[in-house]
Amino acid sequence: MANLQTNYLGLNLKNPIIAGSSGLCSTPMQIKRLEEAGVGAVVLKSIFEEEIAREYELTISNYNRSHENYEYYDYFDYKIKEQNLAKYTKLIYDAKRDTKIPIIASINAVTPAEWASFAKKFEDSGADALEINAFILPTQLHKTSLDLEKQYTDIIANVLNYVSIPVALKIGPYFSSLANVIETFSKSGVKGLVLFNRTFNPDIDIDDLKLVPANIFSSDWEYLLPLRWTALMSGRIGVDISASTGLHSSIDIIKLILAGAKTTQIVSALYKHGLSVVPRMISELNTWMDEKGFETIDDFRGKANNSSVSEPDFLERVQFMKYFGDREDIV
Ligand SMILES: Cc1cc2nc3c(=O)[nH]c(=O)nc-3n(C[C@H](O)[C@H](O)[C@H](O)COP(=O)(O)O)c2cc1C
Repeated sequence: MANLQTNYLGLNLKNPIIAGSSGLCSTPMQIKRLEEAGVGAVVLKSIFEEEIAREYELTISNYNRSHENYEYYDYFDYKIKEQNLAKYTKLIYDAKRDTKIPIIASINAVTPAEWASFAKKFEDSGADALEINAFILPTQLHKTSLDLEKQYTDIIANVLNYVSIPVALKIGPYFSSLANVIETFSKSGVKGLVLFNRTFNPDIDIDDLKLVPANIFSSDWEYLLPLRWTALMSGRIGVDISASTGLHSSIDIIKLILAGAKTTQIVSALYKHGLSVVPRMISELNTWMDEKGFETIDDFRGKANNSSVSEPDFLERVQFMKYFGDREDIV
């Protein structure tokens, strides 16, 4: 039996498979079951700044708007935040009490402000680490890439002001100079980067002529995006990479570790196949490592990244050009 232990954000995990942030990580019972299934750590469902702001707007819109005393509105703002915060800190506390695996809290912030202070409460409730889910879709015409990147670095700086537990930043792939941005974020004080979050995408129903949600789960080829960027960046930055999106099998997990990921996060695979996917992945990872003669995860981590492969420019190729034109075996 191989040794699957891995170190992520300075935490010791019994294996590199993390249950990524989702509704499957929002009650102590679910988290206990994920631990029993064998995951190395859990990222809790994010607490969403925007959701709390919406709840506040809804509350005050139902309230007597003509009220002149603005302290009432402040009161609701405070009250709603406190209620959400109390629920989340209890989840952290209960999950820590009931399990032995690292519990990573997740905060979805879009403004750097006083919000970051929430992070301190998560630390005080026992969270082992914090994931900042700062996925800001660059949809605003007036906002430049630099404005957007500053928004991220301000959020990070604020959070780091409040906590001493390790912090990871989860980002999407929509940046104009991704390698530069990943390097910049890697030097911002975070201990890890989660590559990548996956957007909720709208689709169009052509019968009803209206917008509908697209499939919320990833497909099994989507791991190729984090694979490329993990392989390109893992040898060039000094923080851990946790690969996320499209990891559906042990083969995907192995590939992402070969690309240099310290850990891998699964969500859609759990929703689609249930918890039994975890022991299967662990067993297949063990078998593969035994067959290849790898005793530890570190023995093969990064063997296919930018600094290890003989043709690193293969990772940077975007056009098909002549390469496939010559290959008759493909047709
Ligand atoms: C139902 C659902 C809920 C999710 N909730 C969160 C969340 O609260 N915070 C977060 O950072 N990501 C959330 N995600 C995104 C996942 O953590 C993950 O990044 C994404 O699904 C890609 O991974 P996958 O291909 O393994 O599903 C959610 C995903 C799904 C499907």
